[in-house]
Amino acid sequence: MGSSVSLFIALEGLDGSGTTTQSARLAAWLRNLGHTVHTSCEPSEGPVGQLIRASLRQKPGSPDRSTLPWLFSADRADHLYRDIEPALAAGTIAITDRYAPSSLAYQSMEIPMDQVYVLNATFRVPDLVLFHELDVDVALSRIGSRGEAREIFEHRSQLARVAKHYREAMAYLDARGWPITTLDASLPIEDVTLAIQAAVTALLPTSSEA
Ligand code: TMP
Repeated sequence: MGSSVSLFIALEGLDGSGTTTQSARLAAWLRNLGHTVHTSCEPSEGPVGQLIRASLRQKPGSPDRSTLPWLFSADRADHLYRDIEPALAAGTIAITDRYAPSSLAYQSMEIPMDQVYVLNATFRVPDLVLFHELDVDVALSRIGSRGEAREIFEHRSQLARVAKHYREAMAYLDARGWPITTLDASLPIEDVTLAIQAAVTALLPTSSEA
């Protein structure tokens, strides 16, 4: 049964890889087990996150995209302070749809990965990163079927570069001890959900510990 469990889980993957769907499914499953769960995302809902969304949509007057490495790390500091740290302190499972690995993957297209890492080096390392690995063409067809206006990273040439940088980012963080589980996000939604549940179960206290 549920207990006070403080866990920090980040879901990562290309646009279209299903992180938003899987975050919601993971939260519902954990709540059903009796745990208290907090869900959030990056870019966050906070003021810096809103600035980032405006920049990604290239809204007139929004910050130039060259500012994104700093904006994403400022947003992360705010997100940790406002959302994640209080949730963890209250014995909650905090699930975020994207976190620092996204910055290593996306912003390393603009500045060296080492620099992106330094911008994020003081932030809390999650207890688990769930990396949704997905072929670029599958990701694109999923993005296309959403029927929304595309953001700057959601075009084929960009997405193919992001996919390469994502793999490099995961290897980079893995080498620095980040706990990463890679999932095959081309599988049916239910199969990905089951793989996530197996990875998270390994972190939950057993009933004798609870
Ligand atoms: P979303 O599609 O998950 O809402 O994220 C919006 C975009 O922001 C997505 O293309 C990935 C990008 N992004 C970065 O470039 N760096 C980051 O650190 C994060 C969190 C997201």
